[in-house]
Amino acid sequence: MNGKLPKAGTIEIAPSILSADFAKLADELAVIEKAGAKMVHLDIMDGHFVPNITIGPPVVEKLRKHSKLFFDCHLMITDPRKFAPIFIKSGANNLTFHIETEKNPAELIKALHDMGATAGVCLNPETPVKAIEKVAPLADMILVLTVHPGFGAQQFIPEAAKKIIEVREIVGPDIRVEVDGGIDPQTAPIVVLYGADTLVAGNAIFSKSDRVAAINAIRQACK
Ligand code: DX5
Ligand code: ZN
Repeated sequence: MNGKLPKAGTIEIAPSILSADFAKLADELAVIEKAGAKMVHLDIMDGHFVPNITIGPPVVEKLRKHSKLFFDCHLMITDPRKFAPIFIKSGANNLTFHIETEKNPAELIKALHDMGATAGVCLNPETPVKAIEKVAPLADMILVLTVHPGFGAQQFIPEAAKKIIEVREIVGPDIRVEVDGGIDPQTAPIVVLYGADTLVAGNAIFSKSDRVAAINAIRQACK
């Protein structure tokens, strides 16, 4: 397997390729790796759980050959259990599934671990933290969505971000708390203060011609 989930505690920027140039994905990954990113966030959408369709296992498999980055796959799909094995086989390192999609999240987390992947559990903006309370200690990462899933470049939802505080209280310091949606140099320091250590950013990086400078700007803002 390529890459390991960085140990919780360090601030990591996970660029989301949703806003990248899909015709040049291998080059985009090379640039963010050069900027010092350890992980890349891959948004997988099925047109069913969310009103958009993005990439599937064949793209993950091809990208794997071009990059050593940790592949953090955010599954915005109705049936994560069905597709988990193929994504892992294709080179995904972490699979994050939505708590809203899974009846037995503890069992799915165990299955992901057994297949050699790390497991993330995601909360939609309107889903209360209570929904993940029991399984959170079993996961490697909790993802707090600060936009409605489906599209990049949306407006950050401050009320959803506040849930990070509660999530951090539940999981303690050893599990990563990731935040996704509307992260830029203005919002990044807020979510870090709340307790997030893994910052997904799509539009704030890939809408800029200088991706390296954009990543550094988010990093600097968190210091
Ligand atoms: C939203 C995705 C996000 C998205 C974030 O459905 O989960 O990962 O790419 O994009 P920005 O940073 O543009 O809000
Ligand atoms: Zn995402």
